[in-house]
Amino acid sequence: MSSGARSHTVPAADRVAMSLPRLEEMKRNGEPIVMVTAYDYPSATVAEAAGVDLVLVGDSAANVVLGYERTDLVSMDEMIMLGKAVRRGLKTPLMVGDMPMGSYEASNELAVQSAQRMIKETGCQVVKLEAGGLSVERARAIVRAGVPVMGHVGLTPQTATALGGYKAQGRTAKAAIQLCEDALALQAVGCFAIVFEAVPAEVTEAIVARLDVPSIGIGAGPSTSGQVLVFHDLLGLTTGHMAKFVKRYADIHEQMVAAVEQYGDEVRSRHFPEPDHVYSVEPTELDEFRRYLDQESLASQKAWDWEPLP
Ligand code: KIV
Repeated sequence: MSSGARSHTVPAADRVAMSLPRLEEMKRNGEPIVMVTAYDYPSATVAEAAGVDLVLVGDSAANVVLGYERTDLVSMDEMIMLGKAVRRGLKTPLMVGDMPMGSYEASNELAVQSAQRMIKETGCQVVKLEAGGLSVERARAIVRAGVPVMGHVGLTPQTATALGGYKAQGRTAKAAIQLCEDALALQAVGCFAIVFEAVPAEVTEAIVARLDVPSIGIGAGPSTSGQVLVFHDLLGLTTGHMAKFVKRYADIHEQMVAAVEQYGDEVRSRHFPEPDHVYSVEPTELDEFRRYLDQESLASQKAWDWEPLP
């Protein structure tokens, strides 16, 4: 927090577990909703300590954690492994499991099975799936099976190739109409919230004004009920090209490199470990051990004298 600014973060002791009714209430009251991604135990504990409302185990893990070039390459098994680690670090935020490409498109049965697997195996409370169109039907099936669904419209990275690349969506009237219809359809089939990614602020504003459910924006301007950023992007852990909508709140990658470099220097110059980093032993115990090492019989003992194990 910049000096002098008042913190809006609820103190840890006063936090209650996030729920869907509470999210609706926040939207109704105009209280901004804070969502961040997390992919492992440490990032989850950071999100928890920072008092965010929602934590998304995003398939952006593919890029920022697993080093894949595209999010469509991450598997359900990988998402489950990451989700389990996140669960162990969270108490109060609502945990959202992102359904990876290939886990829901083929049929409603597959979508329900995958959503239930995500919930049961990771302990997340809700799932998110991308796009409108076919996904609306899948979202309906999952909601009917009792699993709350978050929709995601605009730039949907799993299908970025089909969308013409990683670029803003809804920039023509025709595309904005489609985006609006997708969002309304996702709401109509029971999605409890909808993510808007890389959509012009005015287009988002016009659509969210027609939505009853909370909207979460990433590169969609200030009118959504909440915002989401990728953990590694906002902390400056990601290197290289950054989307226009990313704001960096720290430069952790540089700090990490500097720290590991300093460690390396200190090992090489024998400045680490220092006395504070070593264990002690009682002098009498050490003397006895040394007497044992000095014994004549031990001094003449050769490693190859030992009998091999049968
Ligand atoms: O996977 C992800 O991180 C996401 C957010 C960008 C919404 O889907």
